[in-house]
Parts: sequence; structure tokens; C-alpha cells
Amino acid sequence: MKMIQIVLFFFALISFTTNAIDSDDFCVANLFLTSDTPSGYPCKSEKFVTADDFMYSSLAAAGNTANPFKVGLTSVNVSNLAGLNGHKLSAARIDIGINGSVPMHTHPDATELLIVIQGQITVGFITPTKLLVKILNPGDVWVFPIGLLHFQFNSGDGNAIAYAAFSSSNPSIHVISPLLFGNNLPTSTIQKTTLLDAAPIMMLKGVFGGSG
Ligand SMILES: *[C@@H]1O[C@H](CO)[C@@H](O)[C@H](O)[C@H]1NC(C)=O
Ligand SMILES: *[C@@H]1O[C@H](CO)[C@@H](O)[C@H](O)[C@H]1NC(C)=O
Repeated sequence: MKMIQIVLFFFALISFTTNAIDSDDFCVANLFLTSDTPSGYPCKSEKFVTADDFMYSSLAAAGNTANPFKVGLTSVNVSNLAGLNGHKLSAARIDIGINGSVPMHTHPDATELLIVIQGQITVGFITPTKLLVKILNPGDVWVFPIGLLHFQFNSGDGNAIAYAAFSSSNPSIHVISPLLFGNNLPTSTIQKTTLLDAAPIMMLKGVFGGSG
């Protein structure tokens, strides 16, 4: 690159990121130079904002279910829909193959709304005092309260499809099985802290790529 091109490039970068807050109505994420923070991304300068910043258009396609849980998750969060920045909202499409599930997990920072579109999905969440489970069919809507351990599984005889909405622009997801069995946490520690036998732990370390 010639010096003038380099100078113009940096000028473009700077004008893209400064004048950050020039709209009271929205703060489209500047995904270019920065990363997400607890208070979101900095705003993209309004003069670079276009309609495309408010749209994501590939949710009609099924997610890839070729994995042990036979589940395809397509997330639409601030990383691919910049206009979600600052709005406590995001979406996902969930495809669950026959006998598949969304494994036991929590979203520590988001409540989840689930809308079943196709097939039959059994859902549930667990609190220290209650187990709440329900069989959902197309048109049914369910809510998983923030932070609670929950699951979904395909209880029908065909593929199931649901859409989800989350009360965060970038909800985190903590899935129990890969957290327990997908790293080098020693088998003896898992035994002590779960009372599981060594054999199933070794088997699950094999599935999730853990060692030790
Ligand atoms: C946000 O969406 C992207 C693109 O779909 C995905 O790769 C990423 O895992 C999602 N973030 C979280 C925290 O789920
Ligand atoms: C789903 O599970 C049932 C019961 O275990 C089994 O009979 C059936 O073959 C399984 N189907 C698929 C596609 O895995």
C-alpha cells in the first residue's frame, strides 16, 4: 500500500468509529475494531448506518444437526445483527432431529421465549424446589426464566423446529455436558463432585473431547 492509501485507510477507520453517539434512537454496534463489553459495543457513526444493519436474512435455513445431540442452533445476536446493540433482545432458530435434544443448559443473563413451529418438543426447567415440564406442539409458546437450568427434546416422530427470543443482545449459554466433560478437569475431581462412576465420565470425555 502506498503511504497515501494507508493514511486514507486510517482516516476512514477513525471516521467510522468516532462521532460515536449521534442518534437518540439507536446505537448500531460498531463490530469493526472493537468487541462486546458488558455495556454493549460502541455505536457506529450514524452516517454509516444502513437498513442492512437492522436485518438478518438467513433464518429460513435449517441448522446443522450432525452432532451428538442432533441439534442445530442458528443464533441471531449483536454479532450478526448489529442493530440489536443496546436492545435487550436477540433470536435463534433451533432444529432438533429425531431423538435429538437441546442439552441441559442455562442462560445466566437472559430469559428465553420459545415458539414451536414444527413437530413436538418437550421442554422443562428445574429449580431447587420445582420441576416444570410440558409437551409443546406447533403454535405453543413457552418461557424459560433467566438463569434456570433447562432442556428441550424432540418427542415427536419427525424433525422439530422452534424459534427463540432472548432478553439479551448476546445471551451466554452454559451447557453442562461439555463444561463437565470437554476439558482436562480430572476424572477423580468429577467423581468427587458428582458421585458419578469413572466409566461414564471417561465415555463422556470421549464424546466431548475432554482428557485427564
Ligand atoms: C452469536 O451469533 C453468532 C453467529 O450466529 C454465533 O457464532 C455465536 O456463538 C453467538 N453468540 C453466543 C454467545 O451464542
Ligand atoms: C429414536 O429412538 C427410538 C427409541 O429408542 C428408536 O427406536 C428409533 O430408531 C430412533 N430413531 C432415530 C432416527 O434415531
